[in-house]
Amino acid sequence: MDLLARRARVDVWPGDLPPPSEELQRAARTSDGMVTLLTDLIDQPLLAAAPNLRVVANVATGYDNIDVEAATRHGVAVTNTPGVLDDTTADFAFALLMAAARRVVEADAFVRRGEWQTWSPTLLLGSDIHGATLGIVGPGRIGMAMARRAVGFNMRLLYHARTRRPNAEAELGLSYRALPELLAESDFVSLHVPLTSETRGLIGDDKFDLMKPSAILVNTARGPIVNEDALCSALRDGRLAGAALDVFEEEPLAPGHPLTQFANVVLAPHLGSASTATRSKMADMAIDNCLAVLEGRRPPNCLNPEVLALEAGGR
Ligand code: GLV
Repeated sequence: MDLLARRARVDVWPGDLPPPSEELQRAARTSDGMVTLLTDLIDQPLLAAAPNLRVVANVATGYDNIDVEAATRHGVAVTNTPGVLDDTTADFAFALLMAAARRVVEADAFVRRGEWQTWSPTLLLGSDIHGATLGIVGPGRIGMAMARRAVGFNMRLLYHARTRRPNAEAELGLSYRALPELLAESDFVSLHVPLTSETRGLIGDDKFDLMKPSAILVNTARGPIVNEDALCSALRDGRLAGAALDVFEEEPLAPGHPLTQFANVVLAPHLGSASTATRSKMADMAIDNCLAVLEGRRPPNCLNPEVLALEAGGR
């Protein structure tokens, strides 16, 4: 905030909850730049109502909250914060995987409820992580950081991507599989693709049918990649052993949502990048990106660099 305030007039939305869309639009109408969170929808109507807007700097790696094509048409640069959160997000994805596999949340609740009466050879049995097969859907930066953690646990690693990644195969010994094969062979499936029209609903009913009934699904990417109704049916019918979810079709997850009824589902409120150090880096990056455009410099992380040429030529 201080950095920005020294170089621009800054309006800060004061609420804890995101601004309603009319407030966001009102702010956009008079702004040259906006620093946005993934809860702020930057769509065509907002961009059309913002004649002076030159940059939208998202404090996130994902940018499915922004209509980048519309921004490009309006000559607005869009930036994100890639790279700085990969390890932090992979740490969390692995923490969720372990929590679901070894039933950490259930165990904690069990002890707190005072139900622990004796050591039992069959109490809260989970599944082994070491030696198991991890299927990574989307071997980008975060997916690869997840794979590096799995190597330390001696896991067998599969990946699926639109195109094969010889570097990933050589670096960590990942084996490529088409999605149906990856789902059929994996003990854990971890999603690391962005949300796009291609990945929306990617993991639906037909996909749960392919998975092992002993498998666990981990999602730290974006909620709508998984069809939650299909996920709930698969969990209910015992076609899937568990899930660990940091992201949801609708956030925040409504109280009493069917997913909250399953003991074998670990839930988190979109915390993948939530370490103090990483969130500070993300904020710094977004501000750098925003100021760069406003001051006529090239922003380090522009998603639509074609608008910068227009900027350079003057609008
Ligand atoms: C968080 O979800 C991000 O995309 O950075």
